[in-house]
Amino acid sequence: MSIQRSSNSPSRSPRTAPCTGLSERDLASAVATLDITLPGTPPGPPSFTGTKLIYDALHPYIPPGPLDIRGPCPGLNTLANHGYLPRIGIATPAQIISAVMEGFNMENGIAKFVTYAAFVVDGNPITDLLSIGRKSVLTGDLADPAIVGGLNTHGVFEGDASTTRLDAYLGNNFELNDGLWNQYLEAPQQAHPPIHRREPRIRLHLPALATLFFKDNRFPKDFWRAPKPSSANGIVQVFTAHPIAPGRNAGKVNSYTVDPNSGSFTNFCALYYNFVNQTVKTLYPNPTGILQRNLAINLGYLYESLPTLPGSTVKCDQLFPYGQV
Ligand code: HEM
Repeated sequence: MSIQRSSNSPSRSPRTAPCTGLSERDLASAVATLDITLPGTPPGPPSFTGTKLIYDALHPYIPPGPLDIRGPCPGLNTLANHGYLPRIGIATPAQIISAVMEGFNMENGIAKFVTYAAFVVDGNPITDLLSIGRKSVLTGDLADPAIVGGLNTHGVFEGDASTTRLDAYLGNNFELNDGLWNQYLEAPQQAHPPIHRREPRIRLHLPALATLFFKDNRFPKDFWRAPKPSSANGIVQVFTAHPIAPGRNAGKVNSYTVDPNSGSFTNFCALYYNFVNQTVKTLYPNPTGILQRNLAINLGYLYESLPTLPGSTVKCDQLFPYGQV
């Protein structure tokens, strides 16, 4: 597919896509409007960060149509099913950051960090579009070794740590697996006891809520978001109390070997350095022109989010593999 620069082409924003049921012809004409674009500026924190009704009349639940894309993240799938993200499942990083802040009250810094880390390896830096699931013509493609494969892509952002999805080696790493789901539901009740509010008649049963979220990717009726932005606060304390050194099995079961060079949730700088120097550079070894510029801009946005992360007391050095913009 060729991507042409055009100043007067129709907006290619997926927000303009119909809610469901795009025909093949709609898709083809949407692809024809794909354009080279300057990366959108990441949204800052919203002015109001309190609780509010999220499952409202403007955001009805509509299950995905046959061409709508969903993927490994129940959070993003839910936001798309309620129209906080384009229902087609293709979005810009700025749309994703706005949606997770709005729908789940995710804190601005962590929303930027996660979104740009995923976008740089799974999205298309030329068109500024990311598929929240499988690879799609709607994002446009780029030459190898770039993948532009959407969030389903294994091994660059998505990994083998899901509660409800299979490891990539075993098959489908992005759709909920019924066997894993049943194991989760059968786990001891202490893990998810019913919540009793003051009124004895109101019982929120976590398995029922979890089913709505994980299986249907739907907000519970009358869902209000958290009363303050949530981040990964406490992650350092949790990992300090229960240390798990990052590593991998050395080719067979029960051969877990610690990787001393790996980044971790208590060492965000190493996480950032390895991500940029290894993962991103492998996908984009020698970009030129607009691709180089847009990669540099997006990596800048990723770097800017680092100091906001919990436990980030050390200032990481900024890496410029594609120059400074
Ligand atoms: C900020 C942008 C976000 C991106 C780019 C993103 C992306 C992803 C990806 C790629 C996975 C699969 C991980 C893996 O298999 O290794 C995942 C899993 C998950 N995401 Fe998100 N996510 C985002 C925000 C959210 C939000 C706001 C929520 C909801 C509260 C959420 C909830 C989850 C959960 C619970 C899982 C684990 C699913 C499981 O273990 O079966 N995510 N996310």
